[in-house]
Amino acid sequence: MREYKIATVPGDGIGPEVIAEGIKVMRSASDARDISIEFDNFPFGAEHYMKTGETISEKSLDELKDFDAMYFGAIGDPRVPTGVLEGGILLKLRFHFDQYVNLRPVKLYEGVQCPLAGKSAKDVDFYVVRENTEDFYVGLGGRTTMRGEEFEFRLSSGIGRGTLYSMKTSEATDEEAFQIGVLTKRGCRRIMTYAFELAKKKGRTLVTSVDKANVINMYALWRDTFGEVSRHYPGIQTEFSFVDAICMWFVKNPEHYQVVVAPNLFGDVITDLGAMIQGGMGLAPGANINPEGISMFEPIHGSAPKYRGLNVVNPIASILAGKMMLEFLAERHDDRRMYEAASLVELSTAEILREGRVRTKDIGGSSSTSQVGDAIVKRISERSS
Ligand code: IPM
Ligand code: MG
Repeated sequence: MREYKIATVPGDGIGPEVIAEGIKVMRSASDARDISIEFDNFPFGAEHYMKTGETISEKSLDELKDFDAMYFGAIGDPRVPTGVLEGGILLKLRFHFDQYVNLRPVKLYEGVQCPLAGKSAKDVDFYVVRENTEDFYVGLGGRTTMRGEEFEFRLSSGIGRGTLYSMKTSEATDEEAFQIGVLTKRGCRRIMTYAFELAKKKGRTLVTSVDKANVINMYALWRDTFGEVSRHYPGIQTEFSFVDAICMWFVKNPEHYQVVVAPNLFGDVITDLGAMIQGGMGLAPGANINPEGISMFEPIHGSAPKYRGLNVVNPIASILAGKMMLEFLAERHDDRRMYEAASLVELSTAEILREGRVRTKDIGGSSSTSQVGDAIVKRISERSS
């Protein structure tokens, strides 16, 4: 029998407590279906950084490639300057493993209150497919303190990985800040193809492309490529939306959306909005996917340091990220029992949400983090006995 190996990176703040619940729930579902999963812990995060000065070592990156997937909590800590852990750990992992798809389902479960008046579970159920390796995330930027300073950057992510870029800043002033976004045709094509294939697989009939091509020239490449890719999917309707407009439409007509494909930065922004319309950050999972490589599953919320260790935050985003991971493994290994385990997690979570007796404070209850995990575990064992 296959033994699945998962690398866990609980990280900072509330990461460890939500990941613990996710593991507990996945274990109960895999036990119920006789699947063996081994979870190995990696300590990356603020503590590790402060002790060793290291975000992630090359050696650890090398070890990670022997796992079937990664299960990630959250990083970020007020004791470490902003950006160090985000760039050195989370983005590093996404880029190193070329996880070019950031899949973020926006699904409002029954029993969860939608902050949008008059909208219910049937109205909020779509996917955001966020490009995860290019755009303004490639790290080509900086702040100058000298006139005419020259910069050289080596691209560390995406299709153009390794490319050397150089530029000279303005002679007119000694203080300047700039950021360069990069899109490649192949990078656009692969994320858009993923979005259309997802629509096909999920029986969805509309793919919406997000950009800001009316102002930012680089998105013309995004738009053109979307047109080209869409021609291979005659059965699927398409439309374009500017990023500002889609923020409005998510709030006004969420029921319109099925699959939304967005460049990295806009995808980041619109998925926090997406998380709110599905009931809050505590409920929103995400997957960083390399369809041919090693993928990483995480709640999309951050480390929320002020709630750390209080056992009050909602573990459901992490539990649903776990469900996405099981589903992904099931698909990759064509493993029927793994599909069943994933669906046990989802159905049990959905029931607990629908019943509403055990829920954390963010969604109107008073249960603890671990009580929610326990209730889902109990439901899994009832369903599978
Ligand atoms: C997210 C986060 C990250 C991002 C940060 C923490 C680097 O906001 O996963 O949405 O910008 O992608
Ligand atoms: Mg974000």
